[in-house]
Amino acid sequence: MIERPRRLRTTAAMRRLVRETRPRPSQLVLPAFVGETGAEIKAMPGVLRHTVAQIGDVARAARDAGLGGIMLFGVPDDADKDAQGSQAWAADGILQRGITACREAVGDELVIMSDVCLDEFTSHGHCGVLAADGRVVNDETCELYARQAIAQAEAGAHVVAPSGMMDGQVRIIREGLDGAGFEDVAVLAYSAKYASAFYGPFREAVGSSLEGDRRTYQQDPGNRREGLREALLDLAEGADMVMVKPASHYLDVLADVAAVAQVPVAAYQVSGEYSMIEAAAEKGWINRRAAVEESVTSIVRAGADVVLTYWALEVAEWMA
Ligand code: PBG
Repeated sequence: MIERPRRLRTTAAMRRLVRETRPRPSQLVLPAFVGETGAEIKAMPGVLRHTVAQIGDVARAARDAGLGGIMLFGVPDDADKDAQGSQAWAADGILQRGITACREAVGDELVIMSDVCLDEFTSHGHCGVLAADGRVVNDETCELYARQAIAQAEAGAHVVAPSGMMDGQVRIIREGLDGAGFEDVAVLAYSAKYASAFYGPFREAVGSSLEGDRRTYQQDPGNRREGLREALLDLAEGADMVMVKPASHYLDVLADVAAVAQVPVAAYQVSGEYSMIEAAAEKGWINRRAAVEESVTSIVRAGADVVLTYWALEVAEWMA
């Protein structure tokens, strides 16, 4: 026998030497929720909804841990929701106030990102405005996304991240930002976003009002080629970074996108991915730390330059 791959696995030091994938804190992004009131999110043990007064501390902790960024989601009170989701672009909307609090806390020392989508703000819970027959109207929704992106840029976001899966959303947001003088605000496009059951816990986190599903705009889980198509379209529309979401069950799509993208590629380890490991660990069925580290490593190995994960702070601590 000449080839003995096990030689390179003999000691921990040897394995460390030859390890191909080494996730770093600077490529991790912490998703965080900001609302009028704080709360524990039952379906995501260990994840909190923060108030505007608290969210600056979260940003400071992310900066101090050496993370790459924070991705903010706004959770308005139900009374502030309407059919259009107008709090999404109100200057004093909850997400805009959260962005400003983070920017005041950390300035340019952490990349502040915000979700561009109407679902948290609409009374019906869909990601866009509805026609009389209940369909989500594409082009009108994109115009509202542009207004929302501008409001977020005005509030201090470095990166806006459209997650609504409307066709043409990246181009209209880019034009809107440029027209308002925000040429330097980057667009991270949720390009290949699938209609996933793994968003379940997130719906509790944002107090979603959704009935039904998002299958007329988010992608069908069976489609691999289409994920690449969506990413290429977003690049042609001017996306500065592209994302695949969820992460762990879509590593093939992630690898496809990473193979061709000439921009950084992000992957979002979503709420269900988080909660499943937490639940199994709590039952004693899985080694929590090992499972978390393996999941993040696998996402990077598949091609992610940037990983959004609810474990970002803890993983960064382990890495240090
Ligand atoms: C939409 C949005 C969702 C998530 C991020 N942005 C929910 C959805 O599409 O239903 C899910 C994130 C997660 O599950 O962690 N604004």
